[in-house]
Amino acid sequence: MNKIIIRKTEELKEWRRNLQSDINFIPTMGNLHDGHQKLISTAQSLNCNTNLLSIFVNPLQFDSKEDLKSYPKTIDKDIEIAFSNGADAIFIPNVTDMYPKKNKSISYLKASKELSSALCGLTRVGHFDGVCTVVYRLLKLIQPKNLFLGEKDWQQLLIIKNLIEEKKFNIKIIPVPTQRDSDGVPFSSRNKHLSKNERKTLKLFSNELENAKIIFKKDKKIDLKQLTKKLKSKNISIEYLEHLHPYSLKKVQSNDNISILAGAIKCGKTRLIDHVFLMKRKPIIAIDGPAGSGKSTITKLIAKELNLLYLDTGAMYRAISWLFKKEKIDYAEESELKKILNNISIIFKSNSISQQDVFINNFCVTEEIRSQEISAIVSKISSIKKVREFLVYEQRKIGQSGGLVAEGRDIGTTVFPNAELKIFLTASIDERAKRRKSELDLRGTEEIDFNQLKELIRKRDFEDSTRKISPLKKANDAIELLTDGYSINEVVEKIVNIYNLKIPKEIQLE
Ligand code: PAF
Repeated sequence: MNKIIIRKTEELKEWRRNLQSDINFIPTMGNLHDGHQKLISTAQSLNCNTNLLSIFVNPLQFDSKEDLKSYPKTIDKDIEIAFSNGADAIFIPNVTDMYPKKNKSISYLKASKELSSALCGLTRVGHFDGVCTVVYRLLKLIQPKNLFLGEKDWQQLLIIKNLIEEKKFNIKIIPVPTQRDSDGVPFSSRNKHLSKNERKTLKLFSNELENAKIIFKKDKKIDLKQLTKKLKSKNISIEYLEHLHPYSLKKVQSNDNISILAGAIKCGKTRLIDHVFLMKRKPIIAIDGPAGSGKSTITKLIAKELNLLYLDTGAMYRAISWLFKKEKIDYAEESELKKILNNISIIFKSNSISQQDVFINNFCVTEEIRSQEISAIVSKISSIKKVREFLVYEQRKIGQSGGLVAEGRDIGTTVFPNAELKIFLTASIDERAKRRKSELDLRGTEEIDFNQLKELIRKRDFEDSTRKISPLKKANDAIELLTDGYSINEVVEKIVNIYNLKIPKEIQLE
């Protein structure tokens, strides 16, 4: 593709009309650094869309004339960096073209009140309104498929996400983690203004935030007052330092697993921001849903895609059912039940075909637990209180440090009620019976009639959702996905996208 520089909005509209492919859009104010380069190269590596970068120093988002005037401008170098990192087109409009006077069709927007009344919004009055106005105008002109934003400006990212939802734009935000220099300082255009000593101060600040993260990992708490005192003792001039919920930007609550520690400091005349995400344990995804909704296949793929541990709780119940059957356990007999539960060990082991084998008391039962024979008894066995208590305890033990995706029927309600993402996966009975039938046909081990299968699924749904202990129930905060008509890959992509918007990329990489 020929590289192109567009300078007029009319020219951009014409180019857009004639463009056949989708657009990856990277909005910038120029003075491109490694952070921007990462945005462009991420866009380029993701797909074959056209990568469009805009360079526009938006006067509406500057709260001081002096800051606007001194904002570093390096346009020739920017063009070179953008093209050599994968941009196909660069849009460089001027102020009168972006905001023509007397043009009534330009919308001057207000940023979300909740999100802009914290952190930078407190002192930079009107800043986020200016960001929303320019981003909205650019998005309307460009109509991109994907929008690349740096997590460095976390509050801005949340506000733009909110804007896109509010305006019902069909645009996917792709967040890119903060890029840091070798001394730990995040890349920022304003770093250019710093003297050697000011840079040292910024380095101290960034390093202290990183240090707080390490302490938090151990202590699971943070003493904001003490940290502020420490920073002040190092002559760091703090504008704010806050420990907040990462999405609402409200004060953090004691049961929040993930939070953000964000600060702004003054180095000489330059104001700089930095943050770290703190977490007590790694994220957990809970996937619940009725039998045959595709949970196992989908969960396995999600685990692989997001590099999470796969906790197949259904297999644990099936394995216990298999053992009870083999040992002819009379599970109505409490003492017999107690004895066997005290001596059960279930472990998962990855096998060579990158799947998981299930072992119960050293028997590998991966295949056998999927038989119709086990399907017919697992619901009954999983409704035994002692069995559930035993397995919920085991599952929580595995989940203590997080970093997993678990599937079952009570994961989001009982096992991991604090999971970061809860999905309730469903499909119609017809669709589920169709899927089960082709699964069994493929295995070729048993013949079963389609209507009989539908009846079995209906019966299983009834048993699962009416049992006294941990019935199959959608958690209040779960996202329901009806998978009829969607391919497995489409459902996986949907869930991965939701996860990517819920969990900061910076956390996913830890
Ligand atoms: O982050 C920036 O560079 C700017 O705020 C943006 C998103 C390009 C809007 O002017």
